[in-house]
Amino acid sequence: MGLNLCVFASGSGSNLLAIIEACKSGFISSRVVLVISNNSSSGALEVAKKNNIPTFHLSQKLFNTESEFAERLLDLLNEYRVDLILLAGYMKMLSTKVVKKYSGRILNIHPALLPKYGGKGMYGIHVHEAVIAAKEKVTGATVHLVNEVYDSGEIILQKQVVVLPDDDATSLQKRVLETEHELYPEVIKMFEEKIRVRN
Ligand code: GRF
Repeated sequence: MGLNLCVFASGSGSNLLAIIEACKSGFISSRVVLVISNNSSSGALEVAKKNNIPTFHLSQKLFNTESEFAERLLDLLNEYRVDLILLAGYMKMLSTKVVKKYSGRILNIHPALLPKYGGKGMYGIHVHEAVIAAKEKVTGATVHLVNEVYDSGEIILQKQVVVLPDDDATSLQKRVLETEHELYPEVIKMFEEKIRVRN
């Protein structure tokens, strides 16, 4: 049966693509029903359009108040009967109203082994630069539940990536991203079972 997934993304959309491919291959039985981006030139919107998935470019700036923005998001999530929200490179905080309404059903992926290398300023290449600077031997990716504080929700699953002696931030970022593409579908599979049992 699977779940109706909504993906929020601001960037290139490679995690979105990996999730779509996991749906197509049958690895997961869910489907992406909605993609929302705050960035009109985001690759994620292109990926969604190519796959005939409804997209919305929505950002706080387009609304008078945070509350109006939240109401619009909640209306869309309701209209598309979204079961699970996936943040995949979404560069904004979700409004508290949305976080409360979908509590336990919002996931984020982070390119490090949280609680290490999370929080303020820890996004994109900065995460991998910090890992290299600290001479870590292992890093990885984390999927966690989203609450109202950045990168602090319950950790659902992590996958390790070995830091090679000649790695720089860019090469490490590439390998961590490949790992993210395996990790997110695995977690969705876990939630397919969990939400089915709960319903
Ligand atoms: C990923 O590294 C993810 O962990 C982080 O943002 C990046 C998004 O990449 N939150 P993409 O847009 O899915 O390619």
